[in-house]
Amino acid sequence: MPKCSPTLLGSGVRATKVFPFSTVHMRLFNSLPTPFRRSSLAHWGRAAAALIGVALLSGCEWWRMDGHQSTIAVEGPVAREQLHIFYVTCWVSAVIFVLVGGVLAYAMVKFRARSDADAHAEPPEQSHGNPLVELSLIGASVLSLVIIAVPTLQGIWSTYDVPEAEKGQTFEVTAVGYQWWFKFEYPSELATINADAKAPLVTANELVIPVGRPVRVNLRTVDVIHSFWVPKLAGKVDMIPNRANHLWFKAEKPGYYWGQCAEYCGDSHAVMRFRVVALPEKEFAEWLEQQTQTGRTVVARAADATQPRAQFAALRTFKQNEVGISAKFDINPLESWRQLQVPDARTEDAELIAKGRQLFSSKTCMACHAIRGHGAAGITGPDLTHIGSRSTIAAGLLENNREQMQRWLHNPGAVKPGNKMAKGYIDNNIKLTADEEVALVAYLESLK
Ligand code: CUA
Repeated sequence: MPKCSPTLLGSGVRATKVFPFSTVHMRLFNSLPTPFRRSSLAHWGRAAAALIGVALLSGCEWWRMDGHQSTIAVEGPVAREQLHIFYVTCWVSAVIFVLVGGVLAYAMVKFRARSDADAHAEPPEQSHGNPLVELSLIGASVLSLVIIAVPTLQGIWSTYDVPEAEKGQTFEVTAVGYQWWFKFEYPSELATINADAKAPLVTANELVIPVGRPVRVNLRTVDVIHSFWVPKLAGKVDMIPNRANHLWFKAEKPGYYWGQCAEYCGDSHAVMRFRVVALPEKEFAEWLEQQTQTGRTVVARAADATQPRAQFAALRTFKQNEVGISAKFDINPLESWRQLQVPDARTEDAELIAKGRQLFSSKTCMACHAIRGHGAAGITGPDLTHIGSRSTIAAGLLENNREQMQRWLHNPGAVKPGNKMAKGYIDNNIKLTADEEVALVAYLESLK
């Protein structure tokens, strides 16, 4: 026979002495210390203050329901359907909470021990089952499940694929997850590789789509499981190795939407982001026209000597996890994105850009990145043919400007821990001087 410790044995004996004869130990109010029984306003005030404090400290901006990744302020039919299911579930849960909580609170107040004699009184006669109550509770449970199940099943159906009526105008793209960025392929849009060859357009981290048309996204991954999520438009569906998943969504108006990998996928999962840019049909066609061209080449113009030279501030030191998106950009991100589509000849320095292009080759950047028309065809990292026209770099983490681009090139591992570029620097012993960084920045910026 196993030995019990004296303490355990003792408490067991005490328990058998107490349990069969009395329900004193089950009475919540009786077991609380006296000051709590006579609960004062001050006590409840303190509890409320603590709760509010926890809510504030949790960082939930509950007053800002339209944040970048809000699932409440939605802007497309798929996200709206998903929001509808959420609301139905919430309301059913709220009704159950109020009913059950109300009965519980009523019983606790009505039948509490009011005196010492109450606390030690014999328990009243116990009820063991009431068919009417039990059947009603079963019926109510089934009913609430049905109320949730019907819209859920409808939602699963309608969000699974583009509705039959809209199939004809579907725009198809393929999103591929990499640790830690997204590749976007446009299978129906052919991009120029060189004079003789074309291939489907490939971009990275910014999915540009036409407004008002259903977009079907094929979901793939080259390494681990990722998840594709654009909270205001649709989500989330996993990108699973060797499995062909898909989702669809539609943006109802031009906009700039935040996306995020929603499945833990390693060191930099939290900073595996992307954007969806929804453009009116004409502007979208212009964008496609530009993107399918080869990388831009900046040639020095005769008047260059009179132009002001490109200005580069010295690289400053960045704090760990310092935010890389400026408030100025954030005020109207779509407009900021639009401004990046057009090169600004006044700030370009052809000589510096040419030096950057040469460095892109000599520092082996081209082993991992493609720039169509510039002899770079790497496939490990994002395609950079039009990197200058994207509003973000480092998979949506940093704004695409000179300062942030240099920050990234200077030490990619500090921005996105564990990424392949940081490892490539070490493996290939790549070191960049400040001048080289500036030249590379100028070159990448010129690729509109
Ligand atoms: Cu990819 Cu998390």
